Amino acid sequence: MNARIVLVLVSCVLSIATGLVLSRGKGGSSAAAKGSGKPVIGLSMDTLKEERWIADRDLFIAQAEALGAQVEVRSANSDDTRQLRDVESLITAGVDALVIIPHNGAAMARAVEMAHAEGIPVLSYDRLITDAETDLYITFDNIKVGELQAKFLADKIPAGGKMRLIRIYGAKTDNNAKLFKQGQDNILQPLIEAGKVEVVFEDWAEDWKPENAKKITNAAITKAGQNIDAILASNDGTAGGAIQALIEEGLTGKVIVTGQDADLAACQRIVAGTQTMTVYKPLTQLAKRAADLAYKLAQRQPLIAKAETDNGKIAVPSVLLDIVAVTKDNIRDTVVKDGFRKEAEVFGK
Ligand code: BGC
Repeated sequence: MNARIVLVLVSCVLSIATGLVLSRGKGGSSAAAKGSGKPVIGLSMDTLKEERWIADRDLFIAQAEALGAQVEVRSANSDDTRQLRDVESLITAGVDALVIIPHNGAAMARAVEMAHAEGIPVLSYDRLITDAETDLYITFDNIKVGELQAKFLADKIPAGGKMRLIRIYGAKTDNNAKLFKQGQDNILQPLIEAGKVEVVFEDWAEDWKPENAKKITNAAITKAGQNIDAILASNDGTAGGAIQALIEEGLTGKVIVTGQDADLAACQRIVAGTQTMTVYKPLTQLAKRAADLAYKLAQRQPLIAKAETDNGKIAVPSVLLDIVAVTKDNIRDTVVKDGFRKEAEVFGK
């Protein structure tokens, strides 16, 4: 990714930096839009089984409706075939723009092709669609997420000592999971080489499922014993699964556990001391910006993206949002102050 200015125009993407111009879309009204007189945005989601995605959906719809658009939502239950069918049905319903949160970034390249064949622009939301001519991408700085998680651990290594670490990555099908790992590696690799960190076990949690993270933690403890200092869980869902395994082993609160998303359950665990940190990604900003951008795409209005992301096929015009590491010490000044979580919910008062 870089910081070059990219201008996304009505029906074409113009990269000022490269001079690249790609034709995109017929523009105009859709069957659904004709019915209601409003622009219609299709939102195709991987899953609604995690807390964060419910918030993404609700925030997105609220902003799109406030702008005067209508949103059609489909959720694919972590199934690529179903997500392609969802996209097909949104195209048939006549949406003016598509927003896709891919279960599998590679599999959804086909969805972009199908949408473009009908002149519908596509915004890739939070997760990158790879090897496709996606019109726009909005996300957080995902490499920085991994770096914040690993830096937090690096700061906890005792002077002259070593940290025995279990690493739980996310879903292999999610490009973000690879970026989180890349960020973690940036920090951990030199420490591993210096003998300050020993990775005693590592694995990918299929579909980001907490039960898979629990299995990984159980397997890690079976292999490496109870002498574990930290678990680098890539998100709060997997942290929750890992903590279940720690409970069984009587190790809760004794092992450092990272996370990501500032899920309510994770915030409560941080206050209780069973999880040590999370990464707060302001979903409100992401969902609102995405709704603004999708509305403009639906209306074929020009918009500006300041970054680009190489997705294997093109440099996708991108909007990147910042993030913050959260611990017991700053939870009030971050997620609570921002209105993302209520003080009473987090602290149980
Ligand atoms: C998102 C994370 C989320 C994970 C599992 C990732 O792509 O960036 O916020 O926890 O998927 O849903």
